[in-house]
Amino acid sequence: EQIEKGGYPHFMLKEIYEQSETIADCMRGRVIASENRIQLGGLADVLDRLVNARRIVIAGCGTSWHAGLVGEYLFEYLAKVPVEVEYASEFRYREQLIGPGDVLIVISQSGETADTLAALREAKKRGALVLGICNVVGSTIARETDAGVYTHAGPEIGVASTKAFTAQVTVLAMMALLLGQQRNIISDELMKVLISELLSLPEKVSAVLENASGVEHVARLFTYSSNVLYLGRSYNFPVALEGALKLKEISYIHAEGYPAAEMKHGPIALIDEYMPVVVIAATHHTNDKMISNIEEIKARKGRIITISTNGQSGVGQLAEFNITVPPVHDCFTPLITVIPLQLLSYYIAVNRNCDVDQPRNLAKSVTVE
Ligand code: G6P
Repeated sequence: EQIEKGGYPHFMLKEIYEQSETIADCMRGRVIASENRIQLGGLADVLDRLVNARRIVIAGCGTSWHAGLVGEYLFEYLAKVPVEVEYASEFRYREQLIGPGDVLIVISQSGETADTLAALREAKKRGALVLGICNVVGSTIARETDAGVYTHAGPEIGVASTKAFTAQVTVLAMMALLLGQQRNIISDELMKVLISELLSLPEKVSAVLENASGVEHVARLFTYSSNVLYLGRSYNFPVALEGALKLKEISYIHAEGYPAAEMKHGPIALIDEYMPVVVIAATHHTNDKMISNIEEIKARKGRIITISTNGQSGVGQLAEFNITVPPVHDCFTPLITVIPLQLLSYYIAVNRNCDVDQPRNLAKSVTVE
């Protein structure tokens, strides 16, 4: 087992550190910069149906559901297709208003999650095109979908998902670019910019990981917090949910992720000098709004930790701790901003002596309903 951990104390840390490589692996042979296009072989046979979809429904559980939420923003912005994201467990028991002309994308690291599998079977029965984004090759979900794209993240052993999430988001980004170009939404110039931004991600992820000691410092200070609030807007709202989930899963600290503006409708009542608030502020188009949210937290003495980009104005200065990440196009920021949040939960869990790779009560793959 020590050998499999490759010198890291836990699989989770190893998997966090692998992400620069796994994102690159996920894009290999699929992002064709020289031809300014995306090629996803697994979708070739169904591309017409996907391009002409009247809407896309995305279903998954846990971290995969969070990836789906990022996908919603990506598909809507880059391809202008209406998207709904569903918990597989809710979708499968609801009135099934899905059929021919609709596309269901199921996302699952293991490819074995019972509720996700059931959602796919329901949608297939009703004539929807069903696509999969899976990590485990040959898994049940991968086999039962009409077509799909593998994430190629390699085996993920830590129960808390890390590299599978960034690979899922990378696949969704590539699918959205492919669709946006096919639907004539993305101009050639914008495509060029987005492809080069996408290809810059592995290097930027490495840069974030080189700054892990800053996150470790923040983790030490908040190891014994009882609650943590995570706020994000737009592409980084799902990242707030994912950051909170990671902390709950492995550190057993109560955490909530919220869209930053919704704070006013409840969570703000919880903010006092004992409440750490992690603000994922790295999307530029939401900058001003985020600054006013941060000021609201500050006025209530909340302890602010921001994730912002190098050179982003006004955000870091307001925080008690500012973790900077390299700038990238707003729509790809989740792939960068999630990394310090994974590290934060990891270091806090280690400080609290928690079993990082095998957290209590959780399973890597939930095959019961
Ligand atoms: C479990 C795991 C999570 C995972 C979720 C969905 O809860 O502990 O890490 O996100 O299942 O799993 P899937 O394999 O379908 O992505």
